Amino acid sequence: MLYIGVDLGTSAVKLLLMDGSGAIQKIVSREYPICFPHPGWSEQNPEDWLHQTLDGIRELTAQCDRSQIAGIGCGGQMHGLVVLDEHDQVLRPAILWNDGRTAEETEYLNTVIGRETLSRRTANIAFAGFTAPKLLWMRKHEPELFARIRKVMLPKDYLNYMLTGVHCTDVSDASGMLLFDVEHKCWSPEMLELCGLHESQMARVFESYESVGTLKPDVAQSLDLPETVKVCAGAGDNAAAAVGTATVGDGQCNISLGTSGTIFISSEHFGVDPHNALHAFAHADGHYHLMGCMLSAASCNKWWMDDILGTKDYAAEQSPITDDHLGRNHVFFLPYLMGERSPHNDPAARGTFIGLTMDASRADMTQAVLEGVAFGIRDSLEVARSLGLNIQRSKICGGGAKSPLWRKIFANALNLDIDVPVTEEGPGYGGAMLAAVACGEYPSVAAAANALIHVKETIHPDPEIAARYEVQYRKFREIYPTLKALFPRLQG
Ligand code: XUL
Repeated sequence: MLYIGVDLGTSAVKLLLMDGSGAIQKIVSREYPICFPHPGWSEQNPEDWLHQTLDGIRELTAQCDRSQIAGIGCGGQMHGLVVLDEHDQVLRPAILWNDGRTAEETEYLNTVIGRETLSRRTANIAFAGFTAPKLLWMRKHEPELFARIRKVMLPKDYLNYMLTGVHCTDVSDASGMLLFDVEHKCWSPEMLELCGLHESQMARVFESYESVGTLKPDVAQSLDLPETVKVCAGAGDNAAAAVGTATVGDGQCNISLGTSGTIFISSEHFGVDPHNALHAFAHADGHYHLMGCMLSAASCNKWWMDDILGTKDYAAEQSPITDDHLGRNHVFFLPYLMGERSPHNDPAARGTFIGLTMDASRADMTQAVLEGVAFGIRDSLEVARSLGLNIQRSKICGGGAKSPLWRKIFANALNLDIDVPVTEEGPGYGGAMLAAVACGEYPSVAAAANALIHVKETIHPDPEIAARYEVQYRKFREIYPTLKALFPRLQG
C-alpha cells in the first residue's frame, strides 16, 4: 500500500509518497506566503495551506496507482491559532507559533495565574507562541470575532478537518496549546474556563497514530482517491520529525533545523522540567517528550544568505570556513530574529552581531550565524543536562541539517555524536509512518521506526575543536543576559 506524508511547514507544505517498505516514491513541495503585519507578529491564511496541500496531493499522486493509497498523515507547524465560525469558516488569519504579540497575556498567565498553577494543570508555563495566550489576546483585541468562535483548531487539524469532516487533534499538538492536561491527555477544564472557552469548542483528541476517519466523498472525488483512504490524527511537526528519525522510546534525541530549531528528547514516562524552560509534551509514539524550541534557526541562515548577502549559493559562502576556523571566531551572533522561546522566553529579544572588528570578514559573520544557532540549541541541551539527562548523541534533520559544515559545528559546539538518518524528510516521513501504523501496516510507531529508519553517517566531535567551542560557548552565554534589559528599550 501507499501512504502520503504531509509536512505542513511555515514556508511551504512538503508532501511525500511512501510505500509500505518505507521507500519514498515522490516528493513535492508548494509554498505559501507568510505575513508579518507588525514587527514580531506572524500570520498565515489557512485556506492557502489547504489549497496548496490539495494541489500538492494531486501532483504527488498523478502517476501512481491511486487505488493503492491507504492513508494520509500530517506533521504540522504547532501552536498556531485557527478559529472557525458556526459554518466552519475561518474567522481570521492564523496566528502562528513564532508570533510575539502576546507578551502581555503571557506575563499575565505566568505571574497572575502563576507558573506553578499552569504547570500543575498543563505541565507547561506560558510562552508567547502558545495558543492560550493568543486566545486571551483575541478576546481582548477582537471581542466580536472571539464571540463567534465555534471551534479552536491547530494548523494541521484544520487540514484534517477539511479532508474528513472530523474536528480532531492529536495529543502531541494539543500539548502545545496550554489548554491540555498533558499527563492525563485531556483538555484542562480550568484552562478552558480561563480562556473563556467551552469543551464543545475544542477538537476531539486522538493518539497521533489513530485514524480519525476517511476522506469525505467530495474530497475523495476532487483528488481522484478512494473514499477508503484513512486520515490519521498526525502530530505536531517536531513529534512527527522525531518519529521520522526514530526518536521514540526512552532517552533518544533529535535536533531539527527548520524555520525553528528544536531539541527533542523522547521519554517513556511523563516528566516536567521543574524550571519549565523545556516544554513537557505528549509524543506521537504514545509516550512523552521534553523539547526546547528556538524561534529562528535555519531561518537565520536563510535571512543572512538570501536577504542580506543576496545569494543562493550557501555552499560557496560556507567553503572558506575550514576546520582551523571552528571555535576561533571572534564574531558572535544572537539568533533571536523573532524574539526567543527556549530557554529565555523573551519576545523582546533581538538578533545581534557582536564582536565585530575591522578584520571581521563576510565568512566570519556567516560562521557566527551558524554558530549562534548551535549555541542556542546548546542552551536547551544544558537545561536537559541539568535535569540529569545523559545525552551523548542526537539525530539531526531539517533543511539546515543538509549542510555538512553546520552538522560539524553542531557536533563540536554541543559535544555530541550526530547521527544523520538516510531519510532526511523528518516530519513528512513521520506523518507517512503514522498513517502506515493507522492502517495496520506496522503494529506500533516504535515497530515502524525500528523497521524503517537507518543512519547513514555519524559525525563525531573532534576533541580539539570541541574544547575550543567550550570556551566560545561560555562567552556566548554571557551576551544575552548582558543585553536583555536593553532589548525592550530598542523597540519603537
Ligand atoms: C515548537 C514550535 C515550532 C513549530 C515550527 O514548539 O513552535 O517548532 O512547530 O513549525
